Amino acid sequence: MKILVIGSGGREHAIAWKAVQNKDVNTVFCAPGNGGTALEKKCKNVNIKDNDIDNLTAFAEKENITLTIVGPEVPLVGGIVDRFKSRGLAIFGPDAKAAQLEGSKTFAKDFMKKYGVKTAEYGSFKDADSALKYIEKCSYPLVVKADGLAAGKGVAICQNYEEASSKIREFMIDDIFEGSGETVVIEEFLEGVEASILSITDGKCIIPFISAKDHKQIYDGGKGPNTGGMGAIAPNPYCNEAVLKDFEENIMAPTLEGIKSENMDYKGIIFFGVMITKKGNYLLEYNVRMGDPETQAVLPLMDSDLVELIDSTLNGELSNFNLKWKNGASCCVVATSKGYPLGYETGFKVDGIKEAGSVFASGLKNEDGVFKTSGGRVLCTYGIGDTLDSAVKTAYDKLDKIKFSGKYFRTDIGE
Ligand code: AMP
Ligand code: GLY
Repeated sequence: MKILVIGSGGREHAIAWKAVQNKDVNTVFCAPGNGGTALEKKCKNVNIKDNDIDNLTAFAEKENITLTIVGPEVPLVGGIVDRFKSRGLAIFGPDAKAAQLEGSKTFAKDFMKKYGVKTAEYGSFKDADSALKYIEKCSYPLVVKADGLAAGKGVAICQNYEEASSKIREFMIDDIFEGSGETVVIEEFLEGVEASILSITDGKCIIPFISAKDHKQIYDGGKGPNTGGMGAIAPNPYCNEAVLKDFEENIMAPTLEGIKSENMDYKGIIFFGVMITKKGNYLLEYNVRMGDPETQAVLPLMDSDLVELIDSTLNGELSNFNLKWKNGASCCVVATSKGYPLGYETGFKVDGIKEAGSVFASGLKNEDGVFKTSGGRVLCTYGIGDTLDSAVKTAYDKLDKIKFSGKYFRTDIGE
C-alpha cells in the first residue's frame, strides 16, 4: 500500500508514524511533511502544499496512492474529498458539505439546534448593525465568533459591550479574517473545563476515541494568549463515566442522527469540542479532522491499526471494528520558538532529537542533515505510562534533551 498524508504539523507526523506500523504499507508520502516525517522509516516528503488540491490529486493519480489521509481542515472545507472521489481515489475525510460543520459556525450551530445537540444559546448575524443591536441586550461575558475558518483565532471572549462591539467591527467591517468574519455567531459564555473527544464515523455509526485534554494558552496555569496548542494528555481526567455517557446520549447520538438525515457523505474524523459545566455538557464546536496536539497524545495510546480502522470506515463497516486502546495515559509537550504565538525567529539549530528517542515534529526542517527551527511550534515529545504522572515525566524527560536557542515550553502540562 501507498499512503498519502496531507499536512505538515505534529498531527500529520503522528498519523504518518502510526500508518507505517501497518505491515502492508510500503510508503507513506507526506505532502508537504516536515523535517521529522522525512526521517520516519518508509516515509517520504513530497513538496506539495496541503491546500493545493489540483497537484495533490495529480500526485495521487500518478503514484497510484491506495489511501489518502487529510490532516488539516482547509483542504477538507475546500472540497478535496469530493475531488478525489470524482477521480475514484480513496480518501479519508468528509466531503465539502459535511466539512461545513467546521467551515461555518452558523451551519454547525443550526445543525446542533435542529438535531437537539446540547449547545450554548446563540445568534448568527450577516450585518454588523443587527449584531451590535443584539449585544445591547446580552449579559456578559459573551463570545463573538467569526463564522468561517480563522486558524483558531476567530473566537473572542468579551467582558462588556465595548469589547464585543469592537470585535464585531474588527470581524465584520475591518474584515481582519478576509471574508471569514463576514458573518458572526454571538454565543452565551459557558464556564467549565474542556474536553476534546476525537471520534471516527462512517456515516452509519460514530466511535469515540479515548478522550483528550488540550492546553491552549501559552503560559503555565492557562494564562496568556491562545496558541495552536502547547500540549495534551489522554485520557482527559474530567471525562468520567457519567460525562461520557451524557456525551454519547446528548451530543454524539443526535449528531449521528443529523449526519444521516442530511445525507452527508462523512467517512472521517469528527472531533467534538466539549465544555463540561455544572449545568451539564455542551458542544462548543465540531472539527472535521483530528486535533493538534491531541493526536500526538491519542495515537500513541491506540492499540489497533490505524490503516485497518480507516479501511473499515471507508468500507462502511466501522460498527464491526473492535477499536482497542492501551491501558494507562499519554502526554505530549510542545516546544516553541521564543515569542510564539506572536513574532518569533526561526533557523536555529536543534540538537538532541536522536537522544530524545522519538518526537513529533512540526516547525522543524532538516537542512543537509542539520535540524533547524522553521516555525512557532517546533516539535513535541510524548510519553505513555501506567499513570498520567509517569506519562508526563517521560514526555518532559525527553523534552529536556532537546536544545535550541529560544526554546520555550509550558511546565504544567497534565497538572
Ligand atoms: P471554538 O473554535 O468554537 O471551539 O472556540 C475556541 C475556544 O474558545 C474553545 O476551545 C473555548 O476555549 C472558547 N470558547 C468557545 N465558545 C465558548 C463558549 N460559548 N463559552 C466559553 N468559551 C468558549
Ligand atoms: N487542539 C484543537 C484543535 O486542533 O483545533
